[in-house]
Amino acid sequence: MEIKEFTLSGGRLVKLICFKEIISTNTYLKNEANNGAPEYTVVIADRQSGGRGRLGRSFVSEEKCGLYMSLLLRPVEDFDFTSLTAIIGISVNEAIFDVFGLTCGIKWVNDIIYKGRKVCGILAEGALKDNGALDYAVIGIGVNIAPPADGFDASIKDVAGALCKKYSDEIRDRLARSILERINLNLSRDKASLLKRYRDMSCVIGKRVKVITPSLTYFAAAEGIDSDFGLIVTKDDGSCDVLRYGEISVKM
Ligand code: BTN
Repeated sequence: MEIKEFTLSGGRLVKLICFKEIISTNTYLKNEANNGAPEYTVVIADRQSGGRGRLGRSFVSEEKCGLYMSLLLRPVEDFDFTSLTAIIGISVNEAIFDVFGLTCGIKWVNDIIYKGRKVCGILAEGALKDNGALDYAVIGIGVNIAPPADGFDASIKDVAGALCKKYSDEIRDRLARSILERINLNLSRDKASLLKRYRDMSCVIGKRVKVITPSLTYFAAAEGIDSDFGLIVTKDDGSCDVLRYGEISVKM
């Protein structure tokens, strides 16, 4: 393990903990958070042996392919978790443009899509205080920078994509830095400005989607993003719904 410190524009101090291999940067950082680690503690691993995704899935995290990073935030009392999640998607999207010059889209809730393929997944995990307010959030970001030498794992090969052909630690570290800069900046924006950015980046509006919730699955038309970053859909029977959690699948 190696520990470094640096400051973001505006003076925010980052404590960066780097591992060659770890089970999951999110799991490690949640443990640190429970032990009082300060916000902007960041963990990066070259490889994860048990990378976790949303909805209990695993996240394939091979060496020399991607950025596997978790960030600890301790938002102010009334900060809402949905805005925080949106900020991360927006920030990753902007950082990809900064570093690679590529324009990606956000597939609700927070998958980053390039040329119809998922290049980044985000896992935001929160812990609450006794009074129900958000104590901390651990934001896990997994970006496929380049494809593995022998191709993506069979479990993801039909959906996964990458941002460039050749991985380097230098590109990964630049991307990590840019994501942190963008998050730090976007955290100070008002909700209206975040909504505009998130809506502009959405790649599902106007598309036919399959909605997958824990209890049911149905087809619908994605109409827009509501004022709390929910996805507005019209079902085939003409009724409207606003999705607050769950997942959609969509042909890109
Ligand atoms: C998803 O696509 O469902 C979310 C994937 C999140 C993966 C990142 S990689 C860094 C961090 N550590 C984890 O175990 N998961 C997140």
